Amino acid sequence: MISNFNDYLKKYKESVESPEKFWSNYAENFKWEKKWDDILEWDFRVPKVEWFRNSKLNITTNCLDRHLKKHSKKIAYKWIPNDPKEDSISITFEQLHVEVCKFSNVLTKNGVKKGDRVCIYMPMLIELTIAVLACARVGAIHSVVFAGFSAQALSERINDATCKLIITTDGSYRGDKEIKLKEICDEALENTPTIKSCIVYKRTGSEVKMRNGRDKWWHEEMKGTTNIFEPIVVDAEDPLFILYTSGSTGKPKGIQHSTAGYMIYTSFSFKNVFQYEEDDIYWCTADIGWITGHSYIIYGPLLNGASSILFEGIPSYPDFGRFWKIVEENKVNIFYTAPTAIRALEAKGLRYVKPYDLSSLKVLGTVGEPINEDAWNWYNENIGEKDIPIVDTWWQTETGGIMISNLAGVTPSKATFATLPLPGIQPCIMDNDGNELNNLNVEGKLCIKFPWPSMARTIYGDHKRFKDTYFSTFENMYFTGDGCIRDNEGMYRITGRVDDVIIVSGHNLGTAEIESAIDEHPNVCETAIVGYPHKIKGNAIYAFVITQGDIKNEINTRAEINNLIVKNVGPIAKVEKIQFVKGLPKTRSGKIMRRILRKIASNDFSNFGDTSTLLDPNVVEEIIKEKI
Ligand code: WT7
Repeated sequence: MISNFNDYLKKYKESVESPEKFWSNYAENFKWEKKWDDILEWDFRVPKVEWFRNSKLNITTNCLDRHLKKHSKKIAYKWIPNDPKEDSISITFEQLHVEVCKFSNVLTKNGVKKGDRVCIYMPMLIELTIAVLACARVGAIHSVVFAGFSAQALSERINDATCKLIITTDGSYRGDKEIKLKEICDEALENTPTIKSCIVYKRTGSEVKMRNGRDKWWHEEMKGTTNIFEPIVVDAEDPLFILYTSGSTGKPKGIQHSTAGYMIYTSFSFKNVFQYEEDDIYWCTADIGWITGHSYIIYGPLLNGASSILFEGIPSYPDFGRFWKIVEENKVNIFYTAPTAIRALEAKGLRYVKPYDLSSLKVLGTVGEPINEDAWNWYNENIGEKDIPIVDTWWQTETGGIMISNLAGVTPSKATFATLPLPGIQPCIMDNDGNELNNLNVEGKLCIKFPWPSMARTIYGDHKRFKDTYFSTFENMYFTGDGCIRDNEGMYRITGRVDDVIIVSGHNLGTAEIESAIDEHPNVCETAIVGYPHKIKGNAIYAFVITQGDIKNEINTRAEINNLIVKNVGPIAKVEKIQFVKGLPKTRSGKIMRRILRKIASNDFSNFGDTSTLLDPNVVEEIIKEKI
């Protein structure tokens, strides 16, 4: 583990000067069925990236079996239910190993083989981690879909990856709500010809319809299965999982990750960023449906033999002190959450914080969007009592692991700055003309110029789109889609997306998906959505909508529009404000000038920049007039 700033500088230098040596040294810590022939082959112009070539392994051997000698009785997860009156459940590494082996047998019995895609649509339960790990153990590719997505969003993702089997639950609890997941799943499965079986874990006990021949109960399938399952050996570059993320255009992208490189980097980054020590209690509040949950609830912590909290609920239930109550009761040492949660808790005031003893905390973390100074200070003063480091971790679904972040207590922190790259990560800032800005005090677009082990390898089924999205904006570079500043100390600050992705409450939402949902309304001709600053959510969505026909009741139309979004995407994508307009600011070539709409949505009516290509400048005046 990197233990001081000089050590960091030394390791960083080594990682850039001889990346192959650096990563192969670290890889020696793992269990391989066969070691690599060579370490790295890459060409960003193809793009092609391969790490630990021709090595053979199974990641679950490294997450589970490897720890059984020393840590069999250690807790892997302590699950904390949504309802504080319900009992928590702990599972040791040994027990988790048994359950994963049993469920691997269930998957095999249901015809799942190496390379098959399995969809997982479950709430935050230990069984979700079992399902994920069992896929990895049998060599199948998991595609976890966040259990807040709608039936339509779910079936689109299942069809894109042509999944064979889906694992879900009867229902889920979120605060005082019960969500009938199986019902949503049933609706999705009406349009998914490739799904042959659906395994249902009983969580809520609410009544569900089980379709003969397709649907099976988890507990019945598990009955009588043996607890031995020899892991299926896969190649370093065999895909471990697909995870969908929104893009600025088109349908969501199935980001595909590798096995060996992903394993090496999630393990390395977990240990070093959080400065994880053997007996620490670690808690990441993300949902496993997002990349943070994949890398830093499942793989990173398990690879390090860490004990994690797995929380089913939400920060506001039964009240806004829930996070801190859990920290106190479980003596959490490392706490990792999102700026949107911090802002929501800050808004409720200190009376929800003060009653709790937070002295067990050693490290705080944040991820998902830029953290504003006010939220950073509140976190630092009230949760960390100005005494413990905050790691501001910048990364993406596509990067697989944390890329730019301070290492807790080891490298300097700076409010609102992700600070410095991890070893092995070579960021650069580009101007619009494709020049690299090498100096201090510069601002531009963030790229990465050298491969790192956990980078995405492709978009499932669409390598061309992978190339176009990430490797075509700047030659021979991975383009992140984020704006970035390098300050006078060489520290990096991520300023936000420079494309049409909007991050709402830390969730990545693509404009295209939401606009096409709104366009389904019979009275809507055209829509443009943009993000605007929101106190708690970071950004909220503003929709400019051109209508047709006779709208009798604007309030109803607004509600109908949001219902369409919930149906097509899910509640996370609801729009905050809808303005009905007569026209949209378009260039002569027909492209909507979102830059102008973003300003209007943020109540900034000055300085629209170059508007000479606008087809009809009057449209802008009119939108502003109607808004005021
Ligand atoms: C986008 C990626 C990384 C896991 C969760 C989100 C933004 C993420 C930070 C941060 C500023 C951040 C970026 C990035 N982002 N972390 N610490 N500071 N911005 O994964 O859904 O793939 O979103 O989140 O804009 O591109 P994601």
